[in-house]
Formats: sequence, C-alpha cells, structure tokens
Amino acid sequence: MHSTAASTDPVRRAIAVFDSGVGGLTVLGALREAFPGTDFVYLGDTARVPYGTKSAGVVTRYALEAAWYLSQRPLAALVVACNTASAVAIPDLRRAHPDLPIFGVVEPGARAAVAASQRGGILVLGTEGTVASGAYPRAISALRQDAAVRVVACPLFVPLAEEGLVSGPIPELAASHYLDGVLDDSIDTVVLGCTHYPLLRDVIAARTGPHRRIVDSAAPLVEELRPRVDQTSPGQGDLTVLTTDHPTRFLRIGRRFLGSPVTEPTRIDLEALVAEERRRQGGSDAFLLGAAA
Ligand code: DGL
Repeated sequence: MHSTAASTDPVRRAIAVFDSGVGGLTVLGALREAFPGTDFVYLGDTARVPYGTKSAGVVTRYALEAAWYLSQRPLAALVVACNTASAVAIPDLRRAHPDLPIFGVVEPGARAAVAASQRGGILVLGTEGTVASGAYPRAISALRQDAAVRVVACPLFVPLAEEGLVSGPIPELAASHYLDGVLDDSIDTVVLGCTHYPLLRDVIAARTGPHRRIVDSAAPLVEELRPRVDQTSPGQGDLTVLTTDHPTRFLRIGRRFLGSPVTEPTRIDLEALVAEERRRQGGSDAFLLGAAA
C-alpha cells in the first residue's frame, strides 16, 4: 500500500495504466503526450481479453488482480483505461487501495459528453459489459439531470479495430448496423465508450453526421490527472509494458493504438502470481481486497 505522494515525495513513482489488452494504448498515448516526463507502466491483460463480454464479477476480479500486482511498485496513480473495467470495478478497486489515486474513464467520458451536448441527447457506444453496467447513464445523469442517454453495444468494433479494418465497406456496414436504428434528432453527442472505438472515429462520424459531436474520455482524463502529476516527482518518460500473454500480437497491432512503436512487452503470468500469493496467505484471497492475512 502506498501513501499519497506530497510535493516533497522523493520517490520516483510511475502512473500505471491497466487495460484488458491492447486497446488501452489509445489512452496511454494521450497520457504520454500530455505528460512526457512521467514514467508509465502499462499492463494489458491479453491472456483474458475481451472483458467486454464477461460478467461484472469476473471483470472486477481481473481488475483487482491487476491492481494488486501493479500496486507492488511505487505508483503515483492507477488509470483504469478499460471502459468495461471502469464501469464495474472502480468502487472495489478504491476500497482495496484506499491510498492509491485510481482514475477510471467513465466519469471523464461523461464529463466530455455533458460539456459537448447542447440538448442533452447523448448516445454512448460501448461493450456489452459497459452497457449492462448502466455506468455511463448514471455518470451523465449525475452531471445533467435532464440528459436523455441511450447506450448501444457495438461488439464488432473491437475486432475490426484490432484487425486494422477502420475504413471501407466492412466497418461502414458495422457502423450502419449499430447506429442507424438509434440515431434520432434528439441525439447531438456520441460518446466513444470503449478503448478501441477512437480508431473507428471517422467511420462512426460519417454515420452520425457533421451536426453531432463525438467525444471520448482522453482529454478530460488528462485534466483530471494533471494535479496528481504536478505533485509527483518527475520521472524520465520511461515506459514499461507488461502483458499476460505472449507479446507477438500485442506488438503487431499495438502501434496503431499507441500511435507510435510499442516498447517490447514483458510477459507476466498474473494468474500464477496470484495463486502463489494465495498459497502464501493460507488460501485466502483477502489480499486482493487490500486486507493482510
Ligand atoms: N478495453 C475494453 C473496453 O474499453 C474493450 C476490449 C474488451 O472487451 O476487453 O471496454
């Protein structure tokens, strides 16, 4: 467990960015651009991706395991870049790590939507898990009570983005399939509520039309993190990348998500590490929830 870094904190702390796989590199790219002197450690749970089709309980458990592992390093903050994990796991993560500032992407995305929307008609695109959680409508309604929020799961967008199919007839058909029935005149803002969807922004924008705003969580997340970065001892812009499966695919497709070549990842066997700790703790998982045996 870490104490909150004060401006005098001499420890060099990284910002950890956690995602189900490669998609969170879109968020990491924005953070590294905004904070070039900060050290980052990125964990992509490529062995267990996708999270978007899994239950809230399973995703929360995965997120707790990742946070437990990452929190063994000196951290300035943990960013949950995955919308699905942000939608379901933030309260448990904060309870387990009360001294570690934890940032999700749903609230920043909701803020961006409310700032952009004139009439309050907001369409959120996300994974099945994000849609089922109701997290975006909750976060948006907390900021603007009269908002009319609709949410649509667009599961095909994830493999399309990973395959690099971000323009042409195939993604256009997928966009039309998901959007045509839900876009009515009341909607003036569309939220890209998934790490992968920014890659399909142009195709989505072509469908939603020039009169609707398209937003994601990157810019408001940067602003939310800025005070935390300002009070943390500067690093050297180092990036450590960890994956839970072999890094070949991650390296191949990661470049598109990050916008620059990806640092060679180190593979960690997170499930084995958790199992080892469970044995050490006499068979209890309480350590994942922040409790010592
Ligand atoms: N990272 C996930 C999200 O933003 C998308 C990929 C997945 O389903 O794991 O919701």
